[in-house]
Amino acid sequence: MRGLARLPICVQYGTNPSVGPAVVLVNGFFRMRLLPELIDNNRKWAETVSQTDPDFFPKLAKGQTPEFLWIGCADSRVPANQIVGLMPGEVFVHRNIANVVVHSDFNCQSVLEYAVKVLQVKHIIVCGHYGCGGVKAASENHHVGLIDNWLRHIRDVRAKHSQALDMIDDDDDRLNRLCELNVIEQAHNVCHSTVVQEAWDANKPLAVHGWIYGVKDGLLHDLDVTISKPTEVAEAYRVATNPIV
Ligand code: CO
Repeated sequence: MRGLARLPICVQYGTNPSVGPAVVLVNGFFRMRLLPELIDNNRKWAETVSQTDPDFFPKLAKGQTPEFLWIGCADSRVPANQIVGLMPGEVFVHRNIANVVVHSDFNCQSVLEYAVKVLQVKHIIVCGHYGCGGVKAASENHHVGLIDNWLRHIRDVRAKHSQALDMIDDDDDRLNRLCELNVIEQAHNVCHSTVVQEAWDANKPLAVHGWIYGVKDGLLHDLDVTISKPTEVAEAYRVATNPIV
C-alpha cells in the first residue's frame, strides 16, 4: 500500500525549536514542516520509554488490553492518562466537549461498544471537571451556532435540576454543582446504553463511575455514583442527585 508514510524523506527534523521549521525533500519537492519541536519531543519520549523498558513498544504492538474506558471532556487541562498515572495501552479514551453521552451519538456509542464488547474493559469512568467551559456556556443563554445543539444536552441537565441549582447563591458553586450533575447524568446515560445493559444481562463484570477533576489543584473526586449492576442504577442516581441543603 502506498502512503505518505512510505515516501522517502531526505532531510531530518531539526532538534532545536529556535531554528524554525524544518525543510524536507519529499519525492523531489521541498516541503516545509511545522512543529518540529513536537516531533522532537516525541523522539525523546520514545527513547526514554524504550530505555526504561525495551519491551514496552514491542509488547504494545501486539495489541491493547486496557481495563478502563475514560469518557472525559476535550479540555486540554484534563488529559486522561496523565492525571491517573496510566501508560499508553492502559486506558481507552473518548473525549468530547463537556463529556456528554448521548444515545444517538454513534461516535461515543461505537467507542462504548468496542471498549465493552471487544476490549472487555471492567470499568467505565465518566470524568468531568470543575470550571468546564462547555458547562459554563450551557448555563449562559448565549447562542453561538452548531455547538448550541450539543450544549442543549447540558441545558437539559440544568433544567432537570433547576430547583436544586437555584438554591445555590454563589455563581461558581452553582456552576460547579452543574458540572457534577452533568457527570452524574452522563454516567446514568452510560448505564442505560444498550451496550452496558447487554453486558450486565450477560453477567459481565462492568462498573460505571462518575468522577470530577479540579483543574485548580489537579485532584480527582469520586462522586459516589459507582454502579456495577442494573439494580443499583436508580438508588445511586437518587443519592447522587440529592439536592445540597
Ligand atoms: Co470541559
